[in-house]
Amino acid sequence: MAKHSVGWVAAQKRWLLALLVMVSLSTLIAFFIRAAFDTCDRGGLDVVDKRVPLGAPIGTSPSPLSFMKSKLVLLVSHELSLSGGPLLLMELAFLLRGVGTEVYWVTTMKSSDTDAVTYSLEHKMLDRGVQVLSENGQETVNTALKADLVVLNTAVSGKWLDVVLRENVPRVLPKVLWWIHEMRGHYFKLDYVKHLPLVAGSMIDSHVTAEYWENRTRERLGIKMPETFVVHLGNSKELMEVAEDNVAKRVLREHVRESLGVRSEELVFAIINSVSRGKGQDLFLRSFYESLRLIQEKKLQLPKMHAVIVGSDMTAHTKFEHELRNFVAMKKIQDRVHFVDKTLTVAPYLAAIDVLVQNSQARGECFGRITIEAMAFQLPVLGTAAGGTTEIVVNGTTGLLHPVGKAGITPLANNMVKLATHVERRLTMGKRGYERVKERFLEHHMANRIAAVLKEVLRKSDSRSDS
Ligand SMILES: *[C@@H]1O[C@H](CO)[C@@H](O)[C@H](O)[C@H]1NC(C)=O
Ligand SMILES: *[C@@H]1O[C@H](CO)[C@@H](O)[C@H](O)[C@H]1NC(C)=O
Repeated sequence: MAKHSVGWVAAQKRWLLALLVMVSLSTLIAFFIRAAFDTCDRGGLDVVDKRVPLGAPIGTSPSPLSFMKSKLVLLVSHELSLSGGPLLLMELAFLLRGVGTEVYWVTTMKSSDTDAVTYSLEHKMLDRGVQVLSENGQETVNTALKADLVVLNTAVSGKWLDVVLRENVPRVLPKVLWWIHEMRGHYFKLDYVKHLPLVAGSMIDSHVTAEYWENRTRERLGIKMPETFVVHLGNSKELMEVAEDNVAKRVLREHVRESLGVRSEELVFAIINSVSRGKGQDLFLRSFYESLRLIQEKKLQLPKMHAVIVGSDMTAHTKFEHELRNFVAMKKIQDRVHFVDKTLTVAPYLAAIDVLVQNSQARGECFGRITIEAMAFQLPVLGTAAGGTTEIVVNGTTGLLHPVGKAGITPLANNMVKLATHVERRLTMGKRGYERVKERFLEHHMANRIAAVLKEVLRKSDSRSDS
């Protein structure tokens, strides 16, 4: 017993520290990026051999990416920030570094308001042996010409081809893999994507997004997509580590709940997404209010329910942020609705809540990484039947789906009441979600899928340059 409590205190300290880390942005970046790559030292070939094989149990099969060892890869990112796209590309950079690939990085649009972040991320990369080039200049052009593979990240990066490579574009296109993570209309511009038909391949995060690109490029732009590979994303090792650490989860849960004023027996539904109409926080609040009414009407004896919205940015003073607050005030549910500022550190919130709501509207999420992150924490997901969510959530098994738009308000409210009423079902759905993550949404699954794509793209560009 004494031993147990010592371990508990140590763990508690560790996770309190993790919480403190949330306060400081630069340390926060260090926390996130560092943890995954603690297993390798900087640079040097021996790193390759010492590194724990990607995703495989320690001491077994080599990384699926090991064939990339002597290759030269140029990664082109539209920005270097803490948003999903750039972070994914950085993950790829580090996976490749882990097998000894020579990796170069270019950021095409440096914005001044992310300077501190950009600087910090650049240093993380330099520490890992990624070579950071300026967005234009001869060295960048030469690297693109010399590279075995060029990965363009996001549709927006397409502009870089013409602006920087100019007359060299045709020589580089056959070795370009274009990684696309978006599906909003304004990306379907020839300005961005006119070179798509001639690149070696495109890699897209979900089947439905791939299909959408296929349709839109054909119908709107009259161009044909190159060979397209669907690569579902995976959870990072450090996220899984927290998700599978019951002590850590308990500490995080207690602290976050305390800070929100939520008691341990109460029930928390949360959306974790930047606040915007597209992510559907407004409709979520309507559903939440309706679920409270239903419970009252039916005189159900349930624990008190809360709604948490993680991803607020009141400093932006958007009409939408005000609209959400006004709704809460008008319905007098201030004691049940909690707004939390944007954060990259989602683990404490995933530990603290009971159900994740993924309420993205219109075509939904391209993939929606938060969904698999929540499932790793054994949370059931109430999601819109749209986009990548439908490829992640198994309706009725790992969560429940509702329609997008106003038509979804009542179904979501009913689903919330359902999960609040049937505790056993809720917990079982969470467990099934976790099992599904273990089966197909881990880092090594993603690395395997990416490896297959890179192999195919290299094969194609080799055969093109031979002929
Ligand atoms: C793509 O077009 C086909 C045929 O027009 C249609 O059935 C399908 O729903 C479309 N898919 C998407 C994702 O837009
Ligand atoms: C999800 O399953 C429920 C029954 O469990 C069903 O009523 C609903 O129509 C399904 N939704 C979708 C989008 O498949």
